[in-house]
Amino acid sequence: MEDFKRIFEKNKAWAAATKASFPDFFEGLAKQQNPEYLWIGCSDSRVPANQIMDLPPGEVFVHRNIANIVVPSDLNCLSVLQYAVEVLKVRHIIVCGHYGCGGIEAALSDRKNGMIDNWLRHIRTIKRLNEDVIAKTTTHQELSDLMCELNVIEQVNNVRATTVVQDAWDRGQEFSIHGIIYSIRDGLLRDIIHFDHGNNLVEGPDYPKALR
Ligand code: CO
Repeated sequence: MEDFKRIFEKNKAWAAATKASFPDFFEGLAKQQNPEYLWIGCSDSRVPANQIMDLPPGEVFVHRNIANIVVPSDLNCLSVLQYAVEVLKVRHIIVCGHYGCGGIEAALSDRKNGMIDNWLRHIRTIKRLNEDVIAKTTTHQELSDLMCELNVIEQVNNVRATTVVQDAWDRGQEFSIHGIIYSIRDGLLRDIIHFDHGNNLVEGPDYPKALR
């Protein structure tokens, strides 16, 4: 319990420092949030949305789960998506994966992990559907990196296919969906893929070579 005190101490210091730099910061945020971005990312503690994009509180609406998976039966994720699109009217939906993802690694191994294996079935399905490109990888590192990339592409497509997104685009609402990957090793984001204000898919500069 003693060590948990540091949470409140650090919070007090942060609130004071923020108020000192930006006197109206909390008053402004208390009135409303107006984020331009929805971030769908992994729960991994090393991949915090705001810090990676260097954006302050109020700028990013966030949903995180293990391995940044989007499935149409997940009421939690769909609710976040609907609120972000219909109420907040975000300009960009970001699906951010990361290399070395523990969820991807667990899905690639034969080890039993209990309940979470049901969630990771979604990753195993991606592996099964991409057997031809996966067969060309020669090391586990290559396989793992490619699976992280394939997962981001799959989840971007899953976001795009939701009724929330399709209905919004039918109404003429403008926003794009981005698939990006974060590397814990260098702190940099890779631009894999995006859909720009509609169903036109654009391959980014870091789109996997194996798929070209
Ligand atoms: Co992860």
